[in-house]
Amino acid sequence: MSKAQNIFDNQDFFDGYKKLRDNRYSANDLEEKPALFSLSPDLRGKDVLDLGCGYGENCAEFKARGAASVLGVDISQKMLAVATAAHPDIEFICADMSDLSFLNRKFDVVFSSLALHYIDDFRALVRGVYSLLNAGGYFIFSQEHPLTTAPIGGAGWTKDSDGNVLHYNLTDYACCGKRITRWIVDGVEKYHRTFSEIVNTLVDAGFTVEKMLEPAPTQETIERDKSWEKDLHKPNFLLVKAMKRYE
Ligand SMILES: C[S@@+](CC[C@H](N)C(=O)[O-])C[C@H]1O[C@@H](n2cnc3c(N)ncnc32)[C@H](O)[C@@H]1O
Repeated sequence: MSKAQNIFDNQDFFDGYKKLRDNRYSANDLEEKPALFSLSPDLRGKDVLDLGCGYGENCAEFKARGAASVLGVDISQKMLAVATAAHPDIEFICADMSDLSFLNRKFDVVFSSLALHYIDDFRALVRGVYSLLNAGGYFIFSQEHPLTTAPIGGAGWTKDSDGNVLHYNLTDYACCGKRITRWIVDGVEKYHRTFSEIVNTLVDAGFTVEKMLEPAPTQETIERDKSWEKDLHKPNFLLVKAMKRYE
């Protein structure tokens, strides 16, 4: 297994990412989080695992929604330092989620928000999550949209001479694998997978895919800032809700 990159412990990246997330009009807050929570089952009394939990904000929300226990896992000590300071009542473990064999307990719901595109071996991760879930449990995740991760040279747009977006530059869609991009800093490693690879991997592991979402900006968001209109050409995020039916 290749060693996972831990880019969130790079100080420049960490600072730049914090700036993005401090913006109350971030794509996370406007598009991703509402979609993620719309997929959540009733969490009251449930044991919840959050893979790539970052600052632990989602963990706190799972607890507020009545989860019996919440465990957050993240590879980044810097992200977890923020998480533990903000949410001392929640359990966090610093670990690479590429290998989940260190977890020897079961969960009712496994969430992962915007972390799976950093994982090389998606098949191993999905199998690992499947074995951690109780029957009837859910795996709910968001990731960068496959149309975003596709271009080997990084996501780009074609604009007219006035700078208006005409269309997204989709390339390399069928070429799955590692992408080394500039996002905040150079050399950020992400992994591109097609829709069919994502869905088939879940189905092969035994999951039933119940719902997929590709959130678009609301009219209100576009009216406030026209630059969001480009997300009508290409969504930023893909979200999946999958169920483990049988033990
Ligand atoms: C974009 S942030 C999202 C944080 C949080 N889930 C949220 O939505 O606010 C991605 C997180 O995934 C973590 N991550 C990336 N690769 C990981 C790995 N191999 N194992 C565990 N965590 C990982 C990063 O450290 C980072 O905290």
